[in-house]
Amino acid sequence: MSKNLRGLSARKGLDDGLYDEMVRAAGAGDDSAHERLISVAGGFMTGHAAVMGASSFYDFLRKDHLGKKVFVCDGTACLTSGRQEDLKRSLKEHYADHEIGAVTCLGHCHSNDAFMVNGEIRLAGGDGAAPALYSFSNADKPALLVPTGDVREYYSLAVKWQSDTPSALKELELSGLRGRGGAGFPFHLKVRSSRDAKSVKKYIVCNADEGDPGAFSDKWLLEERPHAVLFGMLMTGMITGADTGVVYIRGEYPLAVRRTREAVKELEEAGITEGSSGPAAFRFRFHVVEGSGAYICGEETSLLNSLEGLRPEVRTRPPFPAVYGLFGMPTVLSNVETFANVHYILKEGGKDYAALGTERSPGTKLVSLDGAFNRPGLLEVRMGTPLRSVIDGMGGGTRYPVKAFQIGGPLGGLVPASKVSDLTLDFESFSSEGFLLGHAGIVSVPEDFPIIKLLEHLFEFTKKESCGKCFPCRIGSVRGYELLSGAAEKGMKIDRRLFDDLLETMQFGSLCALGGGLPLPVRNALQWFSDELKGYFTGKEAK
Ligand SMILES: Cc1cc2nc3c(=O)[nH]c(=O)nc-3n(C[C@H](O)[C@H](O)[C@H](O)COP(=O)(O)O)c2cc1C
Ligand code: SF4
Repeated sequence: MSKNLRGLSARKGLDDGLYDEMVRAAGAGDDSAHERLISVAGGFMTGHAAVMGASSFYDFLRKDHLGKKVFVCDGTACLTSGRQEDLKRSLKEHYADHEIGAVTCLGHCHSNDAFMVNGEIRLAGGDGAAPALYSFSNADKPALLVPTGDVREYYSLAVKWQSDTPSALKELELSGLRGRGGAGFPFHLKVRSSRDAKSVKKYIVCNADEGDPGAFSDKWLLEERPHAVLFGMLMTGMITGADTGVVYIRGEYPLAVRRTREAVKELEEAGITEGSSGPAAFRFRFHVVEGSGAYICGEETSLLNSLEGLRPEVRTRPPFPAVYGLFGMPTVLSNVETFANVHYILKEGGKDYAALGTERSPGTKLVSLDGAFNRPGLLEVRMGTPLRSVIDGMGGGTRYPVKAFQIGGPLGGLVPASKVSDLTLDFESFSSEGFLLGHAGIVSVPEDFPIIKLLEHLFEFTKKESCGKCFPCRIGSVRGYELLSGAAEKGMKIDRRLFDDLLETMQFGSLCALGGGLPLPVRNALQWFSDELKGYFTGKEAK
């Protein structure tokens, strides 16, 4: 998209912007939604097709979704736990088949019994009481699991740094904090680029679109520690000169949306940030935006397009968001957990934070454990901790035999149980062994769960969530799914050479890490579960 077009779309900014209007117009799903969307297009001087193309992209705005009454979690942990089918059976006692839909991961991987009714999460287990969600840290001084306490006291740290933001940036650099959204990019470099960019307007965007099945750490932070996240955004704004922060939270996390909005109101009412009343200590406005159901909106450029009301396809990079982001303005776009670390760093010092981890993976990492564990829930783990001690020590081991762990979401690695003792929990250990730490959600694959079904699920997920911009992913995910479901369900054989070619095309030809990242767990499976999988393939693997 040209810079001129993006400039035009900035016309109405975030207040009553195109995305909000579009969601309002489509949301009721009645027969006049189409007319309302056309009128929105007129109001924003944009084409009908642009608004229809954007609104029809989202699961929650589509007519077939709006006709359903209850949604079962479709995530990997619910699938491998085997509880999904039981849940569907019991819901069928209350709802007709056509009233039951699916959503991608509700972030209850620790209980595997979540479903959604009227925009709220319900749990099938018992009478609505949440099952145990353990949360603890192996750091003497945890950076993330600590309560934030009194709001004025918590934010007084920002007053301390207000007059010396270059030193605050230096602390971020000393901390070595790397992005927690998956790629591990050094946070301070983004902040510096954005600070150095000359612009009349800058933004801070928090990526809370945590769509990776198996991960619920961002959800937990926003529900339980929203001020840690908002503080990180505010401080980043002070350093770069941004006066606006956007928290983009996936619609599947209604409680996180509510708690974050309450926290923003609390800040405004306490006169800490700009609101409707009282003089603000900081000129900074927060917007909380609720997503409408699209996994790809977790990819940073797709998220920016979504916020602008455009069809959330992935953008080519460069330019990177730090210099050309939201509405074409310099934007520090980072993950929830990344921002949540900033308070500890500025309070205890960058070096202290770095010492919690390894030289190249400083600090701690939140790890989500699924319902197979004896202590399912959320851990704060010092980087460099042996994976064995995370799984068997902190997690208490699994309740039944497990043959592999899908770590880091659908694009993370498939770690066979036999490799657990070779890994430590940090970026380097995982990548050197051919896996990916990613967001560090751990999904267990039981001994009796067929790996071919897991691969089929991964391709089905990618097929559904592909933004469609590049064909290696758009077509490749469909072809891969056809091959795998033919093998898993109909006894068909897959030509191994063709399959390897498909993986290679997706890896090297895809524009972003959805299509490009899928081959990693698939190859892990082919390598470590070759005996189990060989009956589904013919021919030799490509050299
Ligand atoms: C398909 C796809 C999905 C992604 N989903 C998320 C997500 O849910 N949350 C997130 O923070 N980053 C996600 N990312 C990574 C973002 O593009 C981006 O790198 C990240 O938000 C930057 O923040 P960080 O530097 O703090 O990690 C995703 C990337 C891809 C390719
Ligand atoms: S890899 Fe998939 S999700 Fe990413 S840009 Fe291409 S089509 Fe879109």
